[in-house]
Amino acid sequence: MQLNRARSFFIGAVACSAIAVSSASVADGDDEKRFPESQYRHDVMEFVKYAYSNIAQLMKGTAEHEGHMVKHAQIMASAASMAKAAFEKDTRGMEGATEARDEIWENWDDFAQRLDEFEADAAALATAAESGDMSKIGPAFKKTMGNCKSCHDDYRE
Ligand code: HEC
Repeated sequence: MQLNRARSFFIGAVACSAIAVSSASVADGDDEKRFPESQYRHDVMEFVKYAYSNIAQLMKGTAEHEGHMVKHAQIMASAASMAKAAFEKDTRGMEGATEARDEIWENWDDFAQRLDEFEADAAALATAAESGDMSKIGPAFKKTMGNCKSCHDDYRE
């Protein structure tokens, strides 16, 4: 266990320093490779995560960059607008790593609706960010982030 962790960390670190992309092809804490569809949607969600982290820093003031809030909010909205299509292919039973649970395709209508809501909230966040008005950005950010956990609880390993 200990060794295995150290090893995947090492692989991750080496891959990162070589080509950033190859580290992403090794699933977290697991040496099993993702199949292409899993890699693709995983990476769409990674855009969401990076945009989220940087918006959070800008809001907290641990980073200050004029005009970046809008750009990150647009990245988030753009990624959110690709999410549903990225999950559309039913990959149940495919060989390789994924955190996507079978329930996604068993309850596709519910899952798709949640991604539609996420897309709409992220678009509203981008609009709020364009306004530069923190009294609009804060609540829009909170609402967008409200989509993550409940969906992960139900649909992600
Ligand atoms: C409607 C469902 C849904 C919503 C909403 C959603 N996610 Fe996900 N997310 C998933 C699923 C399912 C996966 C697993 C994908 C795979 O492995 O194929 C995932 C994967 C990820 C990953 C990839 C790394 C990992 O741990 O698997 C990150 C990062 C992530 N989501 C962040 C977010 C953030 C941040 C939000 C909110 C702003 C969000 N997600 C909203 C369903 C969702």
